[in-house]
Amino acid sequence: MPEIIEPFRIKAVEPIRFTTEAERGGILRRAHWNPFLIDADDVLIDLLTDSGTSAMSAAQWGAIMVGDESYAGSRSFKRFEAKVQEIFGFKHVIPTHQGRAAEKILMSLVGGPGKTIPSNNHFDTTRANIEFTGATALDLVIEEGRDPDSLHPFKGNIDVAKLDALFQSPGVNVPLGMITVTNNTGGGQPVSLENIRAVGEVLHRHGKPFFIDACRFAENAWFIQQREPGQSGRSPKEIAQEMFRGADGATMSLKKDGFGNIGGFLALNDDKLAEQARNLLILTEGFPTYGGLAGRDLEALAVGLKEVLDPHYLEYRVATIRYLAERLMTIGVRIVQPPGGHAVYVDARAFYPQIPAVEFPAQALVCELYEKGGVRGVEIGSVMFGRSVDGVEHAADRELVRLAMPRRVYTQAHVNYLCEVFERLFAEREAVRGLRIVRQAPFLRHFTAHFERLG
Ligand code: F0G
Repeated sequence: MPEIIEPFRIKAVEPIRFTTEAERGGILRRAHWNPFLIDADDVLIDLLTDSGTSAMSAAQWGAIMVGDESYAGSRSFKRFEAKVQEIFGFKHVIPTHQGRAAEKILMSLVGGPGKTIPSNNHFDTTRANIEFTGATALDLVIEEGRDPDSLHPFKGNIDVAKLDALFQSPGVNVPLGMITVTNNTGGGQPVSLENIRAVGEVLHRHGKPFFIDACRFAENAWFIQQREPGQSGRSPKEIAQEMFRGADGATMSLKKDGFGNIGGFLALNDDKLAEQARNLLILTEGFPTYGGLAGRDLEALAVGLKEVLDPHYLEYRVATIRYLAERLMTIGVRIVQPPGGHAVYVDARAFYPQIPAVEFPAQALVCELYEKGGVRGVEIGSVMFGRSVDGVEHAADRELVRLAMPRRVYTQAHVNYLCEVFERLFAEREAVRGLRIVRQAPFLRHFTAHFERLG
């Protein structure tokens, strides 16, 4: 096999600022051991998220210059609408400033008390927008999707029998069903074409619309091409088109597989729902031909949606994540298997078995990563999903650190450096202790909590 190389040349660069370990110790202390409170300028390699952090191409920057900023009927909207329709196939395209704005509009229209919206795993913002209306967000991912060691090729699949059974429960009111591709909450795991078809079929048999959270649709299409029987001869674009063919609509954050620094859309076929959605759009986002975006953003996103389906790009993208995963495993680091499309999830409980969950092993690991290596990852464990009741900590069911790769931003040398940092952290792992929270907000505490290191 020839080496898979970065399928681009670098035309513009952004210097990164180097710090010493001693400086980072001080920075971490001043940030109360919460990397969310560290200035981005003090981070060497930032793997907090793959959202909005992509490098745009020369063609995208060029498209920015021809953006039409007309309030109504902008040429840039036409180009954006045509590109979204070409790939996703929906009649109505409603641009929003990011994914959650599309979710907010959709859930305001279909949600409400007593309703249940099933998915494989709802992403946090989708869940929050559902629950905000009083409805229930239900996760129906297959059993293998909950097992970090399972090597199932499509761990993002929905348990179709459970979905069907949901409709037999008395009094259940399902306004629509969803599926997230790839399944971010479950580790960036893909969903098969067969499962997408089966989920659509069950929902339609019960007369319910089927919506797809399309954030990482291109990575999902690539996994289908690589792993699903009979799909290897098709292009990612053809596969993506088929993924959406049986659906009635989609929400998307274009900050992921749109190669955008901002952007999203709600797309759907139903005329009446689309009209209601546009009325809500005007209230908070803007006129329907720009939504929450500038004309130039729409131009850059239309180009991004084309570029993201390039097989050379997708091959490199998935190979980067796999390379990082394999090197970490060689060191002895336990990760969620198999590696997904946009991130590697490290099992912090296995890394620091001496730290109990209520002393936040994954937070300890993100702090060590920053202090020793200048690398920023994100805790997905008891800080994010646990809670404090009357001063007593209740742990979450997993302690992970997500290393999310921004698109087209870092090179293989950055990944090699990251692995060297992990080698050192692994060698020094027995001396590391946990943390305790000294200040926290009543909800979404992980963003602002202050910690102290335990001695
Ligand atoms: N759906 C999924 C699957 C996501 O991963 C995200 C964002 C959203 C919806 C919301 O989109 O941020 O544009 O409003 N995920 C980011 C992350 C924040 O870091 O995983 P948004």
